[in-house]
Amino acid sequence: MKKINVTRSSMPSYEEYCEEIKSLWDSRWLSNRGAKHREFEEKLQGYLGAENIALFANGHVALEVAIDAFGFKKGSEVITTPYTHCSTTHAIARNGLIPVFCDINDRDYTIDADKIEDLITDKTVAIVATHVYGYVCDVKKIQEIADKHGLKVIYDAAHAFGVTIDGVGVGTFGDAAMFSCHATKVFHTIEGGITTFKNKEIYSKVDQLTNFGFTSHESVAYVSTNARMNEYEAAMGLCNLRHIDDEIAKREEAAKRYVERLSGVEGIKLIAPQEGVRQNYSYFPVFFDGYKLNRNEIQAKLAESQVFARKYFYPLTNELECYAQDYGFSVASTPIAKHAAETVLTLPMYADLTIEDVDLICDIILS
Ligand SMILES: Cc1ncc(COP(=O)(O)O)c(C=O)c1O
Repeated sequence: MKKINVTRSSMPSYEEYCEEIKSLWDSRWLSNRGAKHREFEEKLQGYLGAENIALFANGHVALEVAIDAFGFKKGSEVITTPYTHCSTTHAIARNGLIPVFCDINDRDYTIDADKIEDLITDKTVAIVATHVYGYVCDVKKIQEIADKHGLKVIYDAAHAFGVTIDGVGVGTFGDAAMFSCHATKVFHTIEGGITTFKNKEIYSKVDQLTNFGFTSHESVAYVSTNARMNEYEAAMGLCNLRHIDDEIAKREEAAKRYVERLSGVEGIKLIAPQEGVRQNYSYFPVFFDGYKLNRNEIQAKLAESQVFARKYFYPLTNELECYAQDYGFSVASTPIAKHAAETVLTLPMYADLTIEDVDLICDIILS
C-alpha cells in the first residue's frame, strides 16, 4: 500500500543543486556569510519585498534572536497565542519574557485582535502572533493597537513564505517576521530561517547576535548564540526559490480538490480564503466538529490506509508540561484555541500530492 505522509520535501533536480554548490569546492568558504549566503539574501529581498533580511540556521533561532534584538527587559510580558508550534512560546520564554495568552478567532485561527487590549498591562512590551497555516493575522488592527500602546509586533510567519496581503509581502508587516525554511515547509533550505526587520539598526544588531555577539574580531558586545545559515543551505534556498511559484501552484491544485470534496459536508469545517491574501497552501487543516467520527477516529482510519495526517496544533502551548510548574498557564482562558486543538487534523499537503491521492484521502474520510 502506498504511504502518504502529511508532507514531503520538494527538491530541485540533483543536477541543479550540484551545479549550485560546485563553486564551494573552489572557494572553500562553507559558512560564515559566504557568496551563496549573500546572493540568497539579495534574491529574497526581491521575492519577499523586504529590505532588511537576515538568514539563520533554523526558524526557531531566527525567532529567538529576533525577539532578543529588541532588548526587552527580562520579566516583561508578551501577548501571544497558544495555537502555534511550541517554538513561538519557547522563543518568548527563553528570552526571559512572560507569555500572556490571548485566544484565537474561529475564522482563520490567528490571534483574536479584539481580545488583545484587555491583556495589556504596564509590563507588556510586544505582541508575538503567528500567521497560522499561512493565514494572516489582522495585521492592520494589531498595528493600531501596538502603535497606541507603544508595543513591538513580531510575527511568527513560519508558515507564510510567499504569502502577500493586497500584493504586499507578509514579511513587511510588524517590526519583524520570521519564516521557517525547514525541509517540510513550502519553501525550504533543508534547515533554515529567515527574518525580515523593519528597522535597519535592529537588523544590524541581529547580524551580530547571530554570530555569538561579535561586533568586531576582538569584541563581543552581546551574550549570544551561533545561529548562522551555512552555504549548502543557502544554495538549496537559491535553487528552491527558482521553483517556488510552481510549488505553490501545485499545492493550490491539491487544495482546490480537497475543497471540492470536503466543503459543505456537515461536521467538517474548512478555513475560508482571506480576502486580498495570496495563499501559499502550506497546510490543509480540517476541523472535525460534530462529524460522524471525531478527529482521533478519522486520524486512525486514515492511518489504517497508510495516510498519515497530523494533529497540528495539538496540544496547545499553554498546556505543555514544560511550562506547568513555573508559569501556571490556564487553557481555560483560551477556549477557542482549545476547541480547535481538539478538532483539527492537517491532511497531507505537498507539491507532489496527486489528485488521485487527494481523492483517496477524501474517500476514506467521507466513507
Ligand atoms: C509556527 C511555527 N513557528 C516556529 C517553527 C520553528 O521553525 P523551525 O523548525 O525552522 O525551527 C515552526 C516549525 O514548524 C512553526 O510551525
